[in-house]
Amino acid sequence: MKIGVLTAGGDCPGLNAVIRAVTRKSLAGGHEVVGLWRGYAGLAERTYVPLDMRSVSGILPLGGTILSTSSYDPYRHDDGLASVRAAVAEDGFDAVVAIGGEHTMSITRRLHEDGLPMIGVPKTIDNDVPCTDFTFGFDTAVQIATDAIDRLHTTAASHDRVMVIEVMGRNTGWIAVFSGIAGGADAIVIPELELTVEEIGDAINARHHRGKSFSIVVVAEGAELAFASGEKRQVRASSETDQYGYPRLGGIGQALAREIEQRTGFETRVTTLGHVQRGGTPTATDRVLATRYGVKAAELAIAGEFGRMAALHGSEMTSVALAEVQGVKQVDLGYLRLASTFFG
Ligand code: F6P
Repeated sequence: MKIGVLTAGGDCPGLNAVIRAVTRKSLAGGHEVVGLWRGYAGLAERTYVPLDMRSVSGILPLGGTILSTSSYDPYRHDDGLASVRAAVAEDGFDAVVAIGGEHTMSITRRLHEDGLPMIGVPKTIDNDVPCTDFTFGFDTAVQIATDAIDRLHTTAASHDRVMVIEVMGRNTGWIAVFSGIAGGADAIVIPELELTVEEIGDAINARHHRGKSFSIVVVAEGAELAFASGEKRQVRASSETDQYGYPRLGGIGQALAREIEQRTGFETRVTTLGHVQRGGTPTATDRVLATRYGVKAAELAIAGEFGRMAALHGSEMTSVALAEVQGVKQVDLGYLRLASTFFG
């Protein structure tokens, strides 16, 4: 059979490990594998990259994606669906494996409903794709954020400062909570649970009055600035939206730092990690997870089990119907409760 593979949406450490795994598992079964260049645009425009043993050799530890990526959505172009259909039929694709986030999974689900042989693989540093416990890329982002928190600790302690670190995660706080637990944060602010600036200021004041001379606050980019008065402000990097229509987040760290400094009188500095969380080599955990996702996707394709997404449930790599993959997976607040044991 002929299996197409594409990476869509924002990049993420581990994409190449999935591409390699899909390719190697499919080739081993005697199948042909073709990379689709720049996500769904590659299918609509029929821009292909043949994938063989040689082309996937050495890519396991590489960040980014050898297939390039884009946010092209066939349903947002007049002739998009027709072009994709024509490519699949005329170029003889028996299966298409789409590696992407929640929006890519919704495109993949619609294409399956429109009769195309689709398989999904969930990808994102944000860990917000529903129906799977963990996405690959998340562990790497958490490790990068944790390393940053560790480094901020020593400089914060030397200067008696409050350090605010803004991490990614779009509208969820997974990266903030996991890196906050791993790095020993003194406060974690996420979109899923409102924490007012007064509560944060009081917690920092209490900690400093207890003898601590510094504090580390981790804030997720999608968190709102909330006040005891009930006022709430969503801080954005700009008024622009991305190709999927999502707002460009960023800036909550600066806004929160100003409020903390005003309420505590402690010198407060901000670090915004940004895209460094998405770049570079995946951790060993993400390489293993990405490899498991890729092999599972190839198995689903070869078995003709279309309309499914590879999924991690506990320690088991399984699959779920794409029809079930809708919306965003929010942080399990049990993790935040665990983190709060160490606040103050
Ligand atoms: O979804 C991954 C992610 O890195 C989010 O955490 C972040 O909000 C967004 O993508 C950034 O997107 P862009 O690369 O378009 O700036």
